[in-house]
Amino acid sequence: MTQATQTQTKTQTTTFTHLVSKEGGVKYPLKALHVCEETFSPLEVAYDYDAIRAQVSREIIEAGPNSIWRYKVFLPVESENPIDVGTGMTPLVKSKRLARRLGLKDLHIKNDAVNMPTLSFKDRVVSVALTRAKELGFTTVSCASTGNLANSTAAIAAHAGLDCCVFIPADLETGKVLGTLIYNPTVMAVKGNYDQVNRLCCEISNSYEWGFVNINLRPYYSEGSKTLGFEVAEQLGWKLPDHVVAPLASGSLYTKIYKGFQEFIKTGLVEDKLVRFSGAQAEGCSPIATAFKEGRDFITPVKPNTIAKSIAIGNPADGCYSLDIARKTNGNIESVTDAEIVEGIKLLAETEGIFTETAGGTTIAVLKKLVEAGKIEPEETTVVYITGNGLKTQEAVQGYIGEPLTIEPKLDSFERALERSRTLERLEWQQVLV
Ligand SMILES: Cc1ncc(COP(=O)(O)O)c(C=O)c1O
Repeated sequence: MTQATQTQTKTQTTTFTHLVSKEGGVKYPLKALHVCEETFSPLEVAYDYDAIRAQVSREIIEAGPNSIWRYKVFLPVESENPIDVGTGMTPLVKSKRLARRLGLKDLHIKNDAVNMPTLSFKDRVVSVALTRAKELGFTTVSCASTGNLANSTAAIAAHAGLDCCVFIPADLETGKVLGTLIYNPTVMAVKGNYDQVNRLCCEISNSYEWGFVNINLRPYYSEGSKTLGFEVAEQLGWKLPDHVVAPLASGSLYTKIYKGFQEFIKTGLVEDKLVRFSGAQAEGCSPIATAFKEGRDFITPVKPNTIAKSIAIGNPADGCYSLDIARKTNGNIESVTDAEIVEGIKLLAETEGIFTETAGGTTIAVLKKLVEAGKIEPEETTVVYITGNGLKTQEAVQGYIGEPLTIEPKLDSFERALERSRTLERLEWQQVLV
């Protein structure tokens, strides 16, 4: 009996059957494996969709937990009690003021800036990866991270009682580093960029029996991002949007939102429809956007240089698959400058009261650019994915926002300051109008 078959017979509700190479369809057992030895392409989790169809309905999902685990039948875990730290079911905000500012009629913001427990979409992938890590017998978990993943791995490992050692580039923002250290894992700050951190971790994973969430556990981990697709479909009243805009680093999140929509179609939960997939990168690290614009189907790695550190991956593992999705869905992959990213962060905050980090600023700035270029139609039901929280990347906006008005604890001091600020506002408006 293969390991895959043994796993299936353990529990009746298990719907994932094996790992399969993205190219060539080579099958592998459900172990901690991530690359096909024959085709060198990544491995992905395969499911028995008949088994899923037999176990799922809109009503069953709606009656499930208020977390990603309402979609457990679509996720590669066996446990009756997966690690549930309240991850998922984040708000889908119907935009009024941002939509009006951009001239869009039906814009929605998927707000993972308030995801639990560490305020980014990474809590989704890590909840799945660490549940699977425990099932596969790992006692130490690890990751190569641009910041958010380290926060999430450290927090959820602490909750689950797993040993944790994370690797980050040494130049990350203070909020990201502190937001990892607080959970008391071992933190290795590597003097290099993310791609160098990742290479080191691949080497370490060959000789240490650790569960690296985004290396040897990557096929399971990445499935967690499908829930960003599932939730949007459910929150839109069991309908798919016309257009999505999401950030791209490795491209994993983007490709898995697509897989999530396809699985909902395949299992009859939503009607079939072509959703346009657009992607956002920072100009200082835009290997996928560049390949898209140049009409190439291969990625040329770059050395990142941008304030959007969380999406600064110069050699993206799922770059080619992202290109393919953008092209076949009539989407676009666009990049924006660091100055536009800061403006994107400010625009979302001022219009919707959502403070996002640099990845979100990139996504909003790309949304704006695509609308202005006529590449998103005003009537399209558009969903923009905000994947992280601005409190973690405060350095990015320092110096680009106002200062508090310091006053004496006296009424006249307040009134003088108020008058000064109103005069300044008027002058600024006059300058805008000139
Ligand atoms: C906030 C945020 N958004 C988006 C991404 C992109 O993720 P992916 O590597 O799945 O493309 C990351 C990656 O770390 C991130 O931290």
